[in-house]
Amino acid sequence: MSVDLSVEYLGLKLAHPVVPSASPLTGDIDHILALVEAGAPALVLPSLFEEQIEHDAMAVHHGIEQGAGGFAEAASGYLPDLNDYNTGPNQYLDLVSRARKEAGVPVIASLNGVSTGGWTLYARVLADQGVDALELNVYRVAADVEESSGHVELGYLKLVEAVRSAIDVPLAVKIGPYFSAMGSMARRLADAGADALVLFNRFYQPDFDLRTMEVVPNLVLSTPYESRLVLRWLAILFGRVDADLAATTGVHEAQDAVKCLLAGSTVSMMASALLRQGPGQLTKVRDGLETWLESNGYESASQARGSLSQQAVADPVTFERANYMKTLTSYTPTW
Ligand SMILES: Cc1cc2nc3c(=O)[nH]c(=O)nc-3n(C[C@H](O)[C@H](O)[C@H](O)COP(=O)(O)O)c2cc1C
Repeated sequence: MSVDLSVEYLGLKLAHPVVPSASPLTGDIDHILALVEAGAPALVLPSLFEEQIEHDAMAVHHGIEQGAGGFAEAASGYLPDLNDYNTGPNQYLDLVSRARKEAGVPVIASLNGVSTGGWTLYARVLADQGVDALELNVYRVAADVEESSGHVELGYLKLVEAVRSAIDVPLAVKIGPYFSAMGSMARRLADAGADALVLFNRFYQPDFDLRTMEVVPNLVLSTPYESRLVLRWLAILFGRVDADLAATTGVHEAQDAVKCLLAGSTVSMMASALLRQGPGQLTKVRDGLETWLESNGYESASQARGSLSQQAVADPVTFERANYMKTLTSYTPTW
């Protein structure tokens, strides 16, 4: 086959655009080697959580525990017991160093912090460790009813600016979709120093256990349908934001990666499908992408990128509204 699948993501030259995203699979060296064997062109390691680091000093965990217990949802403490959770900073740095030595592909570390001080300090530690790029995993549910959207957004921007000025390595920012002005936010994140935006972090929805009357964290893996939200925003942002766009959520089959590319992604990331089906699924998606591009007359991934984006749409707001009406009127009741 003669399709050139290579892409440049975060300034890194990758053989193709199908990348394992942060998950337990990239959290140990045996799985990492299996992913590389299956053709992974780069790896995003699981996030190092600031709480894990602090846990070693026993400070944050203890402080948070003291406030817990007063609410039904907090009956057993806000944070899981981290005592058995072995991914502290030292293990993480070991993982980074082994992955860098043994994987032979670019290694992107991921950081999930709380305080600005924490984010910048550990960003520097990871950069000094020689990672090829850093991904900030911003998982923040704006649950404080006193906090305005403007204040929440400012927090994101200050964070990205602070980390950007602390390190020289390329910086990706993984965000959720819940901004009232996603387009403007994406542009401001890029202006603040994000070299790539990873769309979208999947916010896990808790469930209630009606027997124990507790909130139960319940991880359900994604379905391909969920990639539609990603497709929409890739298509809107492509060509309008000065940052690479990475797709995450719902990439399971080759056709999902094809759609993300056509919408405008530089890379498509996979977690759920790899956790379910193993590293071989990455090979299938990569090969299927190549086959699709070839049979549709594309010479390269770059040539196809953004073909179905809204770059040429002068007014995306009206376009989206028209599509909404079309969607509703296209539905035929079945009874
Ligand atoms: C078990 C599990 C652990 C994850 N851990 C992380 C993590 O540490 N950091 C992160 O940024 N994303 C993490 N993710 C999110 C994935 O990287 C990915 O963005 C998300 O699952 C959506 O992609 P998917 O539809 O391919 O699963 C995790 C996902 C799963 C299923």
